[in-house]
Amino acid sequence: MLRLGFKLAAFIALALAAAVPLRAETLTAVSPDGAIALTVSDEAGHASYSITYAGEEAVATSRLGMLFRDHHGFERDLAISASSEASHDDTWEQPWGERRVVRDQHNELAVTFAAKSGPAREITVRFRVFDTGVGFRYELSEQAAFQGPIAITDELTQFAIGADADAWWTPSRQFNRYEYIYRTGTAGVVDDAHTPVTFRQQNGLHISIHEAALVDYSAMSLLALRPGSFEAQLRPGSDGVKVHTTAPFNSPWRTIQIAPDAAGLINSDIILNLNEPNKLGDVSWVEPGKYIGIWWAMHINERTWGNDGIHGANNEDVKRYIDFAAEHGFSGVLVEGWNIGWDGDWFNNGELFDFTQSYPDFDLPMLGEYAAERGVRIIGHHETSGNVANYEAQMEDAFALYAANGVREVKTGYVADAGDIVRYDEDGVLQYEWHDSQFMVGHHLRAVKAAAEQKISINAHEPVKDTGLRRTYPNWMTREGARGMEFNAWGTPPNPTEHISILAYTRMLSGPMDYTPGIFDLRPNERPPVREDMQRGDPSNRPQTTLAKQLALYVVLYSPLQMAADLPENYEARMDAFQFIKDVPADWEESVAIAGEVGEYVVIARQERGGNDWFLGAVTDGTSREVSVDLSFLEEGEIYSAQVYRDGAEAHWDTAPYAIVIEEKTVRGGEALTLKMASSGGTAIRFIPAR
Ligand code: NOJ
Ligand code: CA
Repeated sequence: MLRLGFKLAAFIALALAAAVPLRAETLTAVSPDGAIALTVSDEAGHASYSITYAGEEAVATSRLGMLFRDHHGFERDLAISASSEASHDDTWEQPWGERRVVRDQHNELAVTFAAKSGPAREITVRFRVFDTGVGFRYELSEQAAFQGPIAITDELTQFAIGADADAWWTPSRQFNRYEYIYRTGTAGVVDDAHTPVTFRQQNGLHISIHEAALVDYSAMSLLALRPGSFEAQLRPGSDGVKVHTTAPFNSPWRTIQIAPDAAGLINSDIILNLNEPNKLGDVSWVEPGKYIGIWWAMHINERTWGNDGIHGANNEDVKRYIDFAAEHGFSGVLVEGWNIGWDGDWFNNGELFDFTQSYPDFDLPMLGEYAAERGVRIIGHHETSGNVANYEAQMEDAFALYAANGVREVKTGYVADAGDIVRYDEDGVLQYEWHDSQFMVGHHLRAVKAAAEQKISINAHEPVKDTGLRRTYPNWMTREGARGMEFNAWGTPPNPTEHISILAYTRMLSGPMDYTPGIFDLRPNERPPVREDMQRGDPSNRPQTTLAKQLALYVVLYSPLQMAADLPENYEARMDAFQFIKDVPADWEESVAIAGEVGEYVVIARQERGGNDWFLGAVTDGTSREVSVDLSFLEEGEIYSAQVYRDGAEAHWDTAPYAIVIEEKTVRGGEALTLKMASSGGTAIRFIPAR
């Protein structure tokens, strides 16, 4: 009797639970190799997810959701109302890139959360689980509850990493945009970080959080809610609203790369795979290449952008650079300071830039022709000083003028403090916007599309961060978006010895960077002034690397437009080392990160596209080290001649940066090679198959 009574009570309880589902629903998906497991739940009425890697916790339970100014949001009282699964495995080709063939293999789980109170409404979160990480985005369909304009006031996506993980990040919402020395500390002290931000948990898992396909939305930084637990912080527009949109819309993908080691973060294509395929059609006019430029001379006060007697963009100097480019196989010569507007305080006078008027000593048609006759092209430059209103008014004409003179790549620039982008609203009222606001996300695409109309490719400085849009718009070739070489001319303090070993595992995960490597005169501010009023900068501003490390940057830091940044005369003085820059390609068949630790060192090998040679770049931080590299990227057992550029025995970035050994060796695919790198040194190698 007693037992029966118990059974009955249990039955009633079960029946009640079925009628009123109090139990959370939990859905799971795993990566194709089974290592990454994603769990999605509506526990306690909240949408949440968590991720493990090989059974270890990678991201603890983290909430999902979104709030709106004029609509009921998705935050509480949510229940999973539908879900679907799919698997995907195919390959696609990049017109140019760090590898030609990209494999997109993932398992997908789309989960719809419906609101149980307030107006009927639902939002879907689509997850894709790859072997190297997870991507997910919000999809808001057209529905009765979301008619008309939608103002997103908060995205509630959380990332629970753990306070004691190591972290490498740059601060968000600071005046210098993305151009900061990387902070190193525990996740617990990160307050508001730009992405990609990289973590290493106590269990050894490496995690990098970023986003993919940032289109018509504002960029996300990671704001600490509690130490080590972050929430997506969308950059607001000048009206305080984070994103203006309408239904249906998709958010950008939130990406969580996960790898058991540091190199694994680099060997991932999830950001490209989460972007849409090429929308421009035939892009054979987009050509990777190496360039030199009327550029470093201005940064080291050898020349000026403005027209004051030592104007850099003068016909004679530009011709000299074109001749040098032609002689040494460079496809481009960047010319900055060619157009009216640089005189005076150009930082703050963006409205004065005229993008179709040259200074009198710069003859664009003549120089365009001079370059073409020598198989070289001028690379154009549009500095806006953040006055995007002034630029947008002239953009079409400016690209047309350049196209008419044979220019096929334009470097753009948005030098202005973060949050000081000039826009005029519908009423003609001046508004200031962030560099990573929805307005700027839109501006960059407007510029890229206007450039594409003229078959011009873009290299943006002071840009919005890269989220893989080069797949969709292959003429958006490269960008800055971190501290580049220029900081070694005037950036007190200059880039520290560990800078590249951090960049490789953070900024570079987002896409190509126009770092502008290849400085050969490593004490540029010790040159005598060219004119009395043109004093050099602080001599402590100099590249804190050896010469060999400068060469290795061409392999480590991927960019399809790769600059040889120093003055031609400095290359003429070191033709032996310069040979590597002449030989190294800017377009690759395959790339593989071989070894490294975040902030310490990195070794990358790449195979040239359309050829058989492999190139290796290795760099270290301030610690000299020996690294044994497995040459398994070469054909097993095949013989190669290796042209090695390495630090000499006494090399040290500070005391003996020029100590370099250039030697030729025979190596066999599959064997191990020991690299010896000096303090902030490096190694660059070209492998040529003997057969
Ligand atoms: C900053 C850019 O990063 C640099 O490359 C350029 O020379 C100056 N702005 C001037 O446009
Ligand atoms: Ca810059």
